[in-house]
Amino acid sequence: VKAAQPGAAQHDHALRLIAERTAKVVVVGQGYVGLPVAVRAAEAGYGVVGFDTDEAKIAMLQQGTSHVGDVGVAALAAALAGGYRASAEPADVHDFDIAVITVPTPLRDGAPDLSHVEHAGTMLADHLRPGAVVILESTTYPGTTTELLAPVLEHGSGLIRGVDFLLGYSPERIDPGNPKFDFRTTPKVVSGIDEASLAAVRAFYDTLVDTTVPLGNTAEAELVKLLENTFRHVNIALVNEIAMFARDLGVDVWRAIDAADTKPFGFMRFTPGPGVGGHCLPIDPSYLAWEVQRRLGRTMRFVEAANAVNHEMPHYVVDRISALLARHGTAVAGARILLLGLAYKRATGDWRESPSVPVAELLATAGASVQFTDPYVVPATAAQLPFRLVEWSPDAMRAADLVVVLVDHPEFEPAILADAARLIFDTKGIMRATTFCGEVL
Ligand SMILES: NC(=O)c1ccc[n+]([C@@H]2O[C@H](COP(=O)([O-])OP(=O)(O)OC[C@H]3O[C@@H](n4cnc5c(N)ncnc54)[C@H](O)[C@@H]3O)[C@@H](O)[C@H]2O)c1
Repeated sequence: VKAAQPGAAQHDHALRLIAERTAKVVVVGQGYVGLPVAVRAAEAGYGVVGFDTDEAKIAMLQQGTSHVGDVGVAALAAALAGGYRASAEPADVHDFDIAVITVPTPLRDGAPDLSHVEHAGTMLADHLRPGAVVILESTTYPGTTTELLAPVLEHGSGLIRGVDFLLGYSPERIDPGNPKFDFRTTPKVVSGIDEASLAAVRAFYDTLVDTTVPLGNTAEAELVKLLENTFRHVNIALVNEIAMFARDLGVDVWRAIDAADTKPFGFMRFTPGPGVGGHCLPIDPSYLAWEVQRRLGRTMRFVEAANAVNHEMPHYVVDRISALLARHGTAVAGARILLLGLAYKRATGDWRESPSVPVAELLATAGASVQFTDPYVVPATAAQLPFRLVEWSPDAMRAADLVVVLVDHPEFEPAILADAARLIFDTKGIMRATTFCGEVL
């Protein structure tokens, strides 16, 4: 059915439903990003359907089990008792007023794979009504909302963007395990394909977060996310490269970083480590580099250089481990090595793209007997790995020839490590203030 109303009337309609909290909200994808959005929307008073094609995940959520560290059991229980419902049934999406898309955007053979966004758009198009608002949150290259999602929605519904339905993009800034900023207190960039869309998208997020940052152009908002993550990727690579050279120059990079960090302006602290991981790095910068190559035929040199340095880090870590073991009269082949931390970062159990995995693989290839310990990783999620995940304990460390710190989880207390481990290689600098046997990256 085509609406006769212009976009402004649609936007008045959406604003009224938002103000009254009577808008039916659908969040497509109930992962690390989608679940917090859905739970927060329920908390704000909306009726929310959290839709996901993964039936096992939905069954877990329906039983009150959260797979996302930042959404506690109590918050999920409160949401389930309130307006939130988890569903794997596309029909439950019907009659939505606001849809938020939070599906994966991985790389396939080095190129963006937007098939999940297309599927989500196709499904939403079947249920799209005049006056509805669709918001993309998945990370993607500039142009996706208008060039890919909008046509899918229009084609499937027969409705017209900006006339019949409103459309926007809002990048996610969730930082798993961050004790200072959560979904609500992190400013949220919001955008729309036109003024009416922006007003509706902004009004919606104003009911979920403390601060919204409006942009009148979805491509700019898409670039924001890639800029933020490319910035992180490049700076991590920079400090990793400096760390490798500093060591060869005989300079303590960690003390230099600490001192640089006393500068109150113009410097931001990044520390070396075994590489980058998580869903965002190094994938997001590659989305940007891919789009630059495709549209402009140019190479993003910073992304290439950062990729090269960060990919090198697991090899560098293993070389340093070999040298350390050799100095202590042991070879990597046959050594029992316990890796502390499978997750890609502190205080999270998410180990997607974690650099801990290539470190383990390289050590195993060199003949070491490798085990992991990580108090945050749910063992079932790592069952497909060819490495044993043992319980975090001093005894596990005592049984190893070498303990390697790959993640700075708060549980990995330096005094406990120094006491229990025979030899330590610390890639995160957590042992620096402690007397121990071993060395820091
Ligand atoms: N995890 C983060 O910290 C983070 C931060 C910022 C942005 N992002 C971005 O957010 C997006 C989602 O990431 P995530 O970490 O939540 O991923 P995720 O894998 O945890 O969750 C995505 C969910 O979408 C579901 N899904 C896939 N196709 C679907 C479909 N057609 N319909 C319904 N559900 C579908 C999957 O089953 C999965 O449960 C990605 O674009 C990612 O780059 C992630």
